[in-house]
Amino acid sequence: MTETGRQSRILVTGGAGYIGSHTVVELQQRGHAVVIVDNLSNSRADVVDRIAEITGVRPEFHDFDLTDRAKTEAFFASTPDLDAVIHFAAYKAVGESMRDPLAYYGNNLESLLRVLEGMRRHGPRHLVFSSSATVYGQPDELPVRETSPVREAWSPYGSTKQMAEQILRFSVAAYGFKAVALRYFNPVGAHESALIGELPLGVPNNLAPFITQTAAGRQECLEVFGTDYGTADGTAVRDYIHVVDLARAHVAAVARMTGEKARSGLEVFNLGTGRGHSVREVIDAFERVSGVRLNVRYVGRRPGDVEKVWADTSLANRELGWKAERDLDDMMRSAWKWEQALSRRRDGASARG
Ligand code: UFG
Repeated sequence: MTETGRQSRILVTGGAGYIGSHTVVELQQRGHAVVIVDNLSNSRADVVDRIAEITGVRPEFHDFDLTDRAKTEAFFASTPDLDAVIHFAAYKAVGESMRDPLAYYGNNLESLLRVLEGMRRHGPRHLVFSSSATVYGQPDELPVRETSPVREAWSPYGSTKQMAEQILRFSVAAYGFKAVALRYFNPVGAHESALIGELPLGVPNNLAPFITQTAAGRQECLEVFGTDYGTADGTAVRDYIHVVDLARAHVAAVARMTGEKARSGLEVFNLGTGRGHSVREVIDAFERVSGVRLNVRYVGRRPGDVEKVWADTSLANRELGWKAERDLDDMMRSAWKWEQALSRRRDGASARG
């Protein structure tokens, strides 16, 4: 609710995507009205139906590309009552960004510029931005804090996140916005309903969907990249966070900016659990909760991977009043339930087709 008692209205760009859709659910369940803008470049329109099924409320949905200046301007001009923007819409595949950097700079930065322009001209003063732990590279000290140095980006994807944070830092100061950049560690898992989750196109790059697809027989074998890292079992360590915990942090970020603890300018928060898990531990957790043995092959390191990283989450815990509650078993259980729901849907579609 806003100060005047009106239901607050929040624009969620990329709201049909993986983290976006989970965030829309959490926002609606807390009484916020949501407007989604998504060009469905890496998502599907029926995600909006699933959100409606979970929450009983159908979010307003607009299908257009935020890099389109005229359409974005027209959207903001005709939607003057927004209270905040959560900007997820972006390309996110590291490898793809190496092959086509201009597509990444073009899409990820232009859409941010158009959104900021829309805010400046038409109203909402509050922005939550999806950043990434990739900005830290391999930190010298663990757990990594928000004050740790941002390392030279290794991929165009990571570079767009760093540049976006800089664009925000200067823009919020100049135009009097409030903004929060959330540096995600490794989001995994799915909503407990198994109605929404990650929908990787083609062969997944990330560990969790590769694990579940291997278990479902859609991939033949899971390759573990690197066994000679300086970690307890030799495999690389990350801070995996359940997507529902991550989604809830966005609700907390909106509440902070629009509430009493509001700060001007840009604030940056790590979003992780604060615990690191090795690739081997993730596999063990999956096998334990699913009862499925994975076909695993150990191969060399993947170029560009860091050895180990996990978050110091104390700033987000204290300032946002938020804490990740779900553990690795919860993440693997929900990811597996989602993969099985996808398999059933596919079987149903082929039986009908
Ligand atoms: N891994 C495997 N086999 C796979 C896939 C991944 O062993 O098939 C390993 C990786 O080598 C890594 C760990 O699992 O050690 C996690 O890999 P992910 O690809 O799931 O995640 P990353 O940590 O590489 O990626 C994350 C974010 C990106 C971000 C990147 C920066 O998902 O958005 O960190 O390095 F850009």
